[in-house]
This record gives sequence, structure tokens and C-alpha cells, in this order.
Amino acid sequence: MKKLFIETYGCQMNFADSEVVASILKEMYALTKEIQEADLILINTCSIRDKAEQRIHKRLKELEAYKRKNRHLQVGLLGCMAERMKEELLETEPVLDFIAGPDAYRSLPQLIAESQKGKTSFNVLLSEEETYDNIMPVRYDANGVSAFVSIMRGCNNFCAYCVVPYTRGRERSRSPKTILGEIEDLLKNNYKEVTLLGQNVNSYYWKEKGQEVSFAKLMAMVAEMSPELRVRFATSHPKDISDELIETMARYDNICKCIHLPVQSGSNEMLQKMRRVYTRESYLERVRKIKEVLPDCALTTDIIVGFCGETLENHQDTLSIMREVGYEYAYMFKYSERGGTLASKRYPDDIPDEEKTRRLEEVIALQGELSMASNRRDVGKTFRVLVEGTSKRSEDQLFGRNSQNKVIIFPRGEHRVGEYVDVMIFDILGMTRWLRFCGRMARSRFGRNRFGRGCGSGVRARLTK
Ligand code: 5AD
Ligand code: SF4
Repeated sequence: MKKLFIETYGCQMNFADSEVVASILKEMYALTKEIQEADLILINTCSIRDKAEQRIHKRLKELEAYKRKNRHLQVGLLGCMAERMKEELLETEPVLDFIAGPDAYRSLPQLIAESQKGKTSFNVLLSEEETYDNIMPVRYDANGVSAFVSIMRGCNNFCAYCVVPYTRGRERSRSPKTILGEIEDLLKNNYKEVTLLGQNVNSYYWKEKGQEVSFAKLMAMVAEMSPELRVRFATSHPKDISDELIETMARYDNICKCIHLPVQSGSNEMLQKMRRVYTRESYLERVRKIKEVLPDCALTTDIIVGFCGETLENHQDTLSIMREVGYEYAYMFKYSERGGTLASKRYPDDIPDEEKTRRLEEVIALQGELSMASNRRDVGKTFRVLVEGTSKRSEDQLFGRNSQNKVIIFPRGEHRVGEYVDVMIFDILGMTRWLRFCGRMARSRFGRNRFGRGCGSGVRARLTK
């Protein structure tokens, strides 16, 4: 059988999509981890920031060398960049044989066949229905313990800076029946954790024959499948964090106590310009509710610095909301103008790059302090950890995560990957060692393309028994 190599960039949704693509092509291609032996290379791309796209252009240039060595090699580009740049990409990137947008993966066999006949082929049609509902993803890069399950696609929010609604189209939810079916299959294969994924998971909504399923209800249905199964979700929009969801999280021990709640900015002026539809005050009200009902819940976030017209005072508002919430972890970005978005049409990208960098460094430094403080608070506490793998540094150490999604390193003892282990934290890793660890972990699980500008830190633990 011919061999397929897939390289994935960007968010978790893209990783889940690559698993769908592997499934669609499984009758034609066997997956390989060795790019040199591939007959087909697929690059699943991200357009969220200009830097992400520049990296992919660079990678495509590198792939030209593989094509010179093997003239039968085909190269296809998938995902958001295909959607944003369409046919133009086929002209500017001669290494590409075909491109397919995020809703066009079922047509891949056809696109491949056409390009083999020498036609340049592309499909970038967006759909209002496609959820790849009946496709059972091939878990080709998973650790055998935790898996992503895509439950909805697209986004209707049109935040002023964001290209996603244009590249991934309108919001649509997948049927609960096939979601539960996919998770049942994971349970049979001994998976212990699922992360329900969507650009906006908590606006999940399904209605059929008079029966309605909200995101909270779906979470409860998944949590009830097995007490041994941990359930996580990403990503939430603050406007959709309902009381029903927070209370459902409290009801089930196996729903992990961690909410990724992108704030983007702490300034009302910026939030309004960004079209985030919440205020600093209403965001903090949701945070208060979460902390009241789920006192041990970790909160993580996304932050953009240097959005159009951001004053120093606006930037201070971001720093102060970070302190007020006390995030465990954050992904932090410099604003990057994307063609076609409201911000690109309406507001000049007027913060100089050096100033964006300075502000970014400030938020990264603050997040470092907040993550360290959170880790210090954990010293002496006991957590249940789901073991994900062996620490790359030492065969004698395992690593896993607690409910709050914090990575914990501890002695192997008699334990194995996929087990739950109770551990007590005794030490925190310094930032440098921690980042080195994250890098290794990210590479082992996702190749080299994940964990961009995230900032958090890790802890070391002893076994309790
Ligand atoms: N520039 C910088 N960051 C962006 N994000 C989305 N669009 C942009 C942009 N144009 C960030 C947001 C979002 C995360 C996935 O990426 O913080 O939550
Ligand atoms: Fe982009 Fe906003 Fe949709 Fe998130 S909610 S994908 S930031 S438009």
C-alpha cells in the first residue's frame, strides 16, 4: 500500500481533522511517521496569525527537495490556509498538487486522482452541514490514553480580529449519537480521557424529534458513560459559560475542573472593538460564579496584546484582569492583522511591532509569576493523575495530568501509562526546566508544531503509597 505522511499545524481542531483525513484515506494509504518514505504528504495548515502562515510557506519550500528526489511524490495542502488563499496558492507554491479546505476532506480521493492525471485540483467549498459525523477518526498520533473528539465545527462570532469564521464557516453541531458512538469505541480501546472539541464548544446545540441537547447535557451524557473516563472540553466563549454548564461540571467528578476561557483583553474599550460581546465586569462575574461553584477549578486563557489603538491604559487593564483572575496558564499573542476581517477593514494596525513585543513580554512575565504562585499553592496537596507517558528525561519517571490539567512528574513505582495514580506535590519546576520538558513532551506527542507561546509551569510529586 502507498504511504501517507501528515503534518499538522495550529490548534487541536486541526489535529482532530487530520485524524479524520487519515480515516478517509485509509483504504488508499497506510500512515507513516517517516516523511522520506511517503508517496503523499499532506500539510494541515493554520491561518490564525501571519507568523503561522509564514512558517508553512517556509515548510513548503523545504518540501521541494523531497519532490526532486521522488517525482511521483504528491503534496497536498489542507485546512485554513487553503480556504483563505484558495487557488492562488497553487500558483504561488509550485510544490502543491492540490488543496482542500476544512469542509472538503471527503473529496480528497477525487482530488488526489485528478492531480495524478496532471490536473491542478482544489476544493475549498464551505458547507453548512459537514461535521464528518459518520467518520471514525484514525488515532494515528495519540498516546493511547487521551483523545480529541470533535463535536461541532465553525464559528458564528466574527470577533473583529479573527479569520476563523471565514476559513471554517458557520457553526454546526454533530449528532450526540455519533459522538457517543465514537467515545464508546475509544473506551473499548482503553482510552481514559476525551477532550470535546469545537471552535466554540459551549454553543453546541442539537435538536431532533423534539429532543434538545445543550452542551451541558452532552457533557453529562459523556460523563455518565464511565466513571473511569475523564472529560475535558475546549474552547469556550465566555458568553456561553452557562450556570447549567458550571453546575453540571460540579455534579460529575470525572468532568475535569479546568476551563479555558479566552479573555483576549481586560479593557472594555478593546473588548468592544474586538466584538467580544462581554465586558470586563460580565467576564469577572462568570469567573466569580465558577470559583463559587467549582472552588478547585483551574482557569486558563488567551490574550492578544497590541490590538488596534490599544493604549497603555488598556494594556494595564489586561495585566490587572490577569492578576484578578489568577490564570493557571495562558496563551499570549501579538495582534496580527488578517485580511478580510472587520478589524483589517475598519481599524489601522497602529501599534509598532517593538511595542507589541514589549507588551507581550510583560504579559508573559506576569503569567510566569501567576503559574508559579499556583504551583506553590499546590505543594503539599494530593492529586489524582492520569498517566500519559514516561518522562523523556528519565525512564524512572512518569508524567500525567491532574483534573486541573497541570502536568505532574513523579516516580514510576509499579505504575503504567493509562492508570490513575494519587500523588503528592513536593516541588515545583523552574521555568527553564519546565519549558524544556514541555518542548520534549509536545514533540513526542504532536511533532514539533504545538505549544507555541503558552506559559505555565510544572510540578514534581511523590507517590502517596
Ligand atoms: N492575532 C493574534 N491572535 C489571534 N487570535 C485569533 N486571531 C488572532 C489574530 N488575528 C488568538 C486569540 C484566539 C486564539 C486561538 O488565537 O487569542 O483565542
Ligand atoms: Fe475566532 Fe472569536 Fe470564533 Fe474564537 S470565537 S474562533 S476568536 S471568531
